[in-house]
Amino acid sequence: MAKSWVNSAERIGADLHLDLTESAGPGGRRAALTRALREAVRSGRLAPGTRLPPYRSLAADLGVARNTVADAYAELVAEGWLTARQGSGTRVAERAEPLRRAERVPRKAPPRARGPHHDLRQGTPDASAFPRAAWLASYRRALQQAPSEVFGPGDPAGRVELREALSEYLARARGVRTEPGRIVICSGFAHALRLLFSQEKGGSVLRGPLAVEAYGLGFHRELLAAAGVRTVPLPLDEDGARVDRLARERAVLLTPAHQFPTGGPLHPERRAAVIDWARARGSVVLEDDYDGEFRYDRKPVGAVQGLDPERVIFIGSVSKSLSPAVRLGWMVLPERYVDGVLAAKGEREAWASVLDQLSLADLIVSGAYDRHVRRMRQRYRSRRDRLVTALAAHAPQVEVTGVAAGLHAVLRLPPGTERSVVKAAGWQGIALDGLAEFRHPEAAEPEIPVHDGLVVGFATPSEHAYTAALEALCGVLPPGGEPEGARR
Ligand SMILES: Cc1ncc(COP(=O)(O)O)c(C=O)c1O
Repeated sequence: MAKSWVNSAERIGADLHLDLTESAGPGGRRAALTRALREAVRSGRLAPGTRLPPYRSLAADLGVARNTVADAYAELVAEGWLTARQGSGTRVAERAEPLRRAERVPRKAPPRARGPHHDLRQGTPDASAFPRAAWLASYRRALQQAPSEVFGPGDPAGRVELREALSEYLARARGVRTEPGRIVICSGFAHALRLLFSQEKGGSVLRGPLAVEAYGLGFHRELLAAAGVRTVPLPLDEDGARVDRLARERAVLLTPAHQFPTGGPLHPERRAAVIDWARARGSVVLEDDYDGEFRYDRKPVGAVQGLDPERVIFIGSVSKSLSPAVRLGWMVLPERYVDGVLAAKGEREAWASVLDQLSLADLIVSGAYDRHVRRMRQRYRSRRDRLVTALAAHAPQVEVTGVAAGLHAVLRLPPGTERSVVKAAGWQGIALDGLAEFRHPEAAEPEIPVHDGLVVGFATPSEHAYTAALEALCGVLPPGGEPEGARR
């Protein structure tokens, strides 16, 4: 028995699925077809003015008699759902409103997701500054120039155009030593971690235990825990991670250019020491270069990877430079890991859109990426300066740290005040995080210096919203006293 029918585009200009499941019900097929058509018009699936198929072809498609269709149409014409005119066939009536008001099921409007008044959470660049015109121009060029094979299954290593562009860019801007064959494109840092530690494809590329900085992104620790990787917290001090505490771990994850979230660079001696450790133990360093392009005052801090490309996996993404919504990142791998990572990725590219890869390649090669990064660097530097000035004027007791680079600052608070300040900020519509959020759950005093603080993402608000966000922030900081320390 005919149950459903999907008509072809030539007949009425749009595909339509009619469910005739009720054909066995009262009135048989004619009633079922009438009900199905009425429902299609009522719900708006058949728009006003749409031409219905001739009796003969619909009857043939459904396996019903021509008269069954003629009767169903006639009934719906009589009800006003359809109109039949000589020469123009049967159409959906212009006034056949989908779901007339009286029939509408009363539904509560879904609650609007209301964001905070002032968004100072770390983690995102100014979303209003995405280089739309440049991206569009690159996308258009990439599409125009792309050979047809681009639209077939993608190479899991990523498009060679992008790997070549990155190889040149990372060498120039970050001091990375590589060539396109060592680069694997992924959808960002989190994806890179998954690829390295996933057990899915017959054994992971790397295994734990993995040393991590005592302060870091909880999301990454959770992701690792879910992959069965034990993370061991490394203490931090003013020179960065205490790499002298590394022992039998198989790998260490570091943010050497700008410790996340506390903000300092890894001391040059420690950069050398971590490489020595990796060589001596046959271990590997995972270098998370999440915001390496954004440095302000101090000399550029190049990649640790440049010290020994065979001991470091360098990972970056466009999440801070363009937008975390693009989901494009890269891994620069020691030779011995390339095949394993490609195997973890699968036979075809299943993560990063090939068209987006080509657009990013064009953005980099055309110079538009560098121009955007330079513009954003100036913008964020000026925001950083305004934050420091506002705090000096309104909350001199609050020490600002970690502001020589990056998109966030750490505000050191008087002991015991962090929770209440974060709470007060929430009441004032300010979204930000306390430093404690980022502490490894096994990081304990006195090993790990713990102090109260706020992590303030000064890049997050749009340009016009920043002044108000700063004023609101100053309003919730603990009242004055003596300055607690020098700003650095
Ligand atoms: C510490 C850290 N690493 C890496 C990233 C980038 O993550 P992804 O590339 O997965 O967006 C971020 C956030 O942007 C981050 O805060």
